[in-house]
Formats: sequence, C-alpha cells, structure tokens
Amino acid sequence: MQEQIRPARSVSGAVRLPGDKSISHRYAMLAAIAEGESRIRNYSTGADCHSTLGCVRALGIPVDEADGEIVIHGRGADGLESPQSLLDAGNSGSTIRMLSGILAAQKFDSCIGGDESLSRRPMDRIMRPLAEMGASIEAREGRFPPLAIHGAKLHPIEYSLPVASAQVKTCVLFGGLFADGRTIVHEPVRTRDHTELALREFGADIETQGRTITLHGPARLQARELQVPGDLSSAAFFLVAALIVADSNLVVHGVGLNPTRSALLDFLAGMGADVKILEIKQSAGELIGDILIRKSRVRGGILEKAQTAALIDEIPVLAVLGAASDEGLLVRDAAELRVKETDRIATIAENCRRMGLTIHVREDGFEIPGKQQFHAAELDSFGDHRIAMAFSVAALAASGPCTMEHADAASVSFPEFFDTLRRIAE
Ligand code: S3P
Repeated sequence: MQEQIRPARSVSGAVRLPGDKSISHRYAMLAAIAEGESRIRNYSTGADCHSTLGCVRALGIPVDEADGEIVIHGRGADGLESPQSLLDAGNSGSTIRMLSGILAAQKFDSCIGGDESLSRRPMDRIMRPLAEMGASIEAREGRFPPLAIHGAKLHPIEYSLPVASAQVKTCVLFGGLFADGRTIVHEPVRTRDHTELALREFGADIETQGRTITLHGPARLQARELQVPGDLSSAAFFLVAALIVADSNLVVHGVGLNPTRSALLDFLAGMGADVKILEIKQSAGELIGDILIRKSRVRGGILEKAQTAALIDEIPVLAVLGAASDEGLLVRDAAELRVKETDRIATIAENCRRMGLTIHVREDGFEIPGKQQFHAAELDSFGDHRIAMAFSVAALAASGPCTMEHADAASVSFPEFFDTLRRIAE
C-alpha cells in the first residue's frame, strides 16, 4: 500500500495513542500463565501485540476482545496446552524472544516462527541462556527462526547479558518463573524495566539492585486488571513532527513515562525543544502523563553509549530531526540497528538519499548534518514500521508531496498512524 503525504503548515491539536507495545506483550504473556481472568485496557492495537495474542490462544488460553479491553482467562503456570501447529510471531521479535522463555519450560514441544523479516533476526542471544537453563532449542542455521523448542524442567541461572536487550532479559526471567531458586540477570546498561514492574504486579518475588535483577522461582502469578499507557515510541513521531513543522503546538495524552523509556524527552529538551510534561499519575508501577510540545529550534547533538540503547527505537525519527536541527546528529554504538525489522542504518540512509539529504554511514551508526532541505521524494518503508512513520514525518517538511511505499508496515505497531497524522497536520 502506498500513502501520499503533503507538506504541512502546522502540526497541532491533541492525540491519544494506542497502548505501549512493550507493556502489552508482557501483560498478555503473564496473564496467560497467571491464575484467573486478567482485564487489560488500552492494549496495543498493533499487529505485533496481536501476534502475541494469537500465540496465547494457540496455547489453549481463551482471549476475548471487546470495547477496547482484552480479557485473558489464565490457567496458571501449568495451564498452557501443546499447540496444534507452528506458533506465528509475525513480524514481532518481542513475541518470539520473550515467549520462548515460557515455551522452554513447558512439558510439551513447540515450534515458533514468523515472517520473512523475523526469519532473518538472530535468536542465539536467547538460545544461549535458555540452553544454560537446561532447554533444548533448534534453529535454522543454528540461530534463525523458526525455533523448535523442546520443553524441559529449567533450572535457575545467573546470567550477564552480552548485549543490552530487554527482550533477552525478559526471556531469561520468564524462564526463571518456572525454575526452583534464584534467577539472576546482570545488565550491561539499564534497559526498559516493564518486565520487572509487570512481574511484581502479577505477584512474582522479584527485586532490582542497580543493574542486577533477582527473581525467586517458581512463581504463582495472579490475574490482574491493568491499564496500558500510551506508547511513547509512537508519540516520538508526532513530537518530532511538531518540532520540524512551523507553528506547531501539540498535546499527547496518556503517554507512558517510565524513566527507562523517557530518555527521549530529556534528549529533546537538552537540544532545546520546548517540551513539557503536564500531569503524571501511576498505574501498575508505570508512570503515565500528558506531553505538550511546541515548534522549537533544536541544536542537534551526539547519541552514544547507554543513551543510544535507551533510544534505540526512536533513532529513525531522530535522524529526521537531526537533518532539520542546527548542528546535525551523530549516532554511535548503534550496531543493534542493523538487526532490527530492517537494517535500519541502511533503510534510514536510503530514504535520506531519496530526499536529497546528506548522511554519512558508519558500521555502528551515522552522522547527519543539520540545516538540510527535505526534497519531495518517493520513499519506502522496506516493510519496517518505524521507517514508514519516521519518513512520513520527514515528508511533512518536504518541498512537495511525497509518497511512501509499503506504508501499511506502520500497522505493526500503530495502525491508526496515518489517520492521526492527517488529523493533526494541516
Ligand atoms: C523491546 C526491546 C527492544 C526494542 C523493541 C522492544 C522490548 O529490543 O527495540 O522494540 O519490548 O523489550 P531489544 O531487546 O532487542 O533491544
């Protein structure tokens, strides 16, 4: 599917976003192995989180969807059933990597795979710790989906993550839910802590000290009523739109502001963006607030080390902001971008080139000079949701109308993206 995006004079009004993708996945998986009926409001409308629900259903857990609420009828730690066929994670790295921790601990075997993009993403990062816990997993060429998982009685491990990955951390902790004793994970840098907060909420015995997380297994989880905050990584597209289009003034309601996710707001403010948080409340350990942003001149800057890890999903749209900033943006330590839904360094660079933007690519990042003119172009998502949305935002500031090929990729995390964009961009 192709979308046409016209240049905008302003981006203004108010938006409310679908539920956070990361949190939705975790709530659904934990509700499936909790005892009783969990109700989840504002569950992500994205295809990825529906892949997770599809897997949960295929594991014999009833899931009802009505009036924007998901009801999951959990059957406890032993309640999953052997799936009849391959579990389909679709485009979702979170689904395959996190669910594998649970599948590895079952009394049955299962097979989980996904689409062409997912089939190219590395799974050895979860296979290694799960093997240490006693699981046996086979993968295509030893590291790619589909995975054939032979369920086993897992034992607890102490594991230092070689890459900063919340998905891998989650996979190990989910395996630890079924193991007798202390599962300990050390992180090289702090990654999003939705798993730790959700586990506590569902009643697991878990504690965090610095960058070390300790889970005491086995766990008996209890069903919960939960509200998923709006997705800050989806909000990022509109925040950048408001910063690069003249006369913009936008309010984003009900956004997740978990400190392990909100580095974006500090980074934007540090570059001179006029961004304010209007109100904050708490739900199930997660912070939720409203964000007000106005068109501002942004300086640009450097993104490296722990900050790169904290902003990994926002880098495509920050590249767009960098090209419009005064001094440009230098991104380092971002080799992980090469193994996302696409090689995002390559797909960012290709769309920049099409818009006539200069970008210098490095193995682990890129440098994009500031004060650049965005030219009308035929853009392509290459099937990657965040590339579709980032460059549709760039198109708002282009010299003329742009087209986005494979724009439907946006529905992986944000099916309402183009409707919302049309509503707030004039
Ligand atoms: C996610 C973690 C990140 C992120 C992804 C969602 C999560 O991936 O890029 O979109 O929900 O835990 P990694 O764990 O591979 O860094």
